[in-house]
Amino acid sequence: MRIGNVDVKELVRDYQTPLYVYDEGKIKSVVKEFKDNFKSDNFSTDVLFACKALDCLYMYNLANKLGLCLDCVTGGEIYGAYKAGFNMKNVFFHGNNKSEDEILMAGKYGVGNIIIDNLDEVKMLEEVLKDTDYHFNVMMRINIGVSAHTHQYIITAHPDSKFGFFIESEDIFTAVEMIKKNKNLSFKGFHSHIGSQIFDKEGFLIAVSKLFGLMAKFDFEFEWLNLGGGFGIKYTDEDKPIPYDEVSKMLIDKVNEEMKSTGIKISRLLIEPGRSIVGEAGYTLYTIGQLKKTKNKMYYFIDGGMSDNIRPALYQAKYACDVVDKESSEKKNLVCIAGKCCESGDVIIEDILLPEAKKNDILVVYSTGAYGYSMSSNYNKMLKPAMVFVDNGNVKLACKRQSYDDLYANEEI
Ligand code: LLP
Repeated sequence: MRIGNVDVKELVRDYQTPLYVYDEGKIKSVVKEFKDNFKSDNFSTDVLFACKALDCLYMYNLANKLGLCLDCVTGGEIYGAYKAGFNMKNVFFHGNNKSEDEILMAGKYGVGNIIIDNLDEVKMLEEVLKDTDYHFNVMMRINIGVSAHTHQYIITAHPDSKFGFFIESEDIFTAVEMIKKNKNLSFKGFHSHIGSQIFDKEGFLIAVSKLFGLMAKFDFEFEWLNLGGGFGIKYTDEDKPIPYDEVSKMLIDKVNEEMKSTGIKISRLLIEPGRSIVGEAGYTLYTIGQLKKTKNKMYYFIDGGMSDNIRPALYQAKYACDVVDKESSEKKNLVCIAGKCCESGDVIIEDILLPEAKKNDILVVYSTGAYGYSMSSNYNKMLKPAMVFVDNGNVKLACKRQSYDDLYANEEI
């Protein structure tokens, strides 16, 4: 098996397992698909990478080189973007509970844009920025009150969501007025993000209509509109994502249609996908250790688990996998892929048909590129895996495997 034209066995020999492998060519082609199709003659467009999906220096740098803007949610992500040489004017600082220190840090590092979550935040910004000459373009996150058809844990737009100004709230008008009067802030427009891993077009279209409906209530010109991310990817054969060229064109057409029918103009349209940019480009390689047969189950135990991929335990997320170099062997064993953490929920794949495997065979889990490494932990003092990017036969180590000393570096007796 090869990824990015590199033999998987070579990667395992050089970097051991568990190992996150990213096919950089795939990331580049998804970005190109978005960029080639998410454009219009009537306004400028930008694609932000929601870096929570994969927040590491290599990816910040790659995103910058690919001409993406960046959605950051914490001081940690902003610091990483800065360290990686990201063009900070293109950073959008998101989040529902930004701290004063983070705001000042964003100012110091030259972050260009803030996406405001709530009225309290506007008051905090007024206070923190008043004696500074920091300046931010500002968008406001609107909770449009539509829930996307996806797993309930990752729905973000119901009326009581912790994210954004609810679309019917008077706070929106108060906040816009305060922002418009503020010397440190320039109001640019609204933002909405309706959820994640969405396969249904309808939610996105409703979001655009609702946002135009909201803009119509104001008597000034809006400049920007940000439609968030959430475009689904393929984890298993059951997943049927909307192709990215299609979803891009659909959003552009819908915005043009709304501009025509309402007479409201915008000059810049943004989207902020995370999962779709890195998800299918990522693979996790594990070494199979012990095999165990119980009364009703056959386990293949792997040398990682919920510490490097919490998604199955947290969201009942489904993945597909193969035993490396046995992809075309007969798949006659129904097996459970379980990790080595001390939790019965530490299962990466509950039931999958695989060929006969033995100790030291390599298992590859597909589509682990989004929210895998970035949500990894040191539970049971497991080491965070190494991460490599492969592109056209070249391998780049983006992140070393943690050492046991790294694990205890901040601790004292
Ligand atoms: N914009 C905002 C404001 C967001 O909150 C998110 C994701 C995105 C963009 C990117 O969404 P994407 O295109 O990646 O779906 N940990 C969960 C996903 C949580 C998503 C959080 N927000 C998971 O592993 O499925």
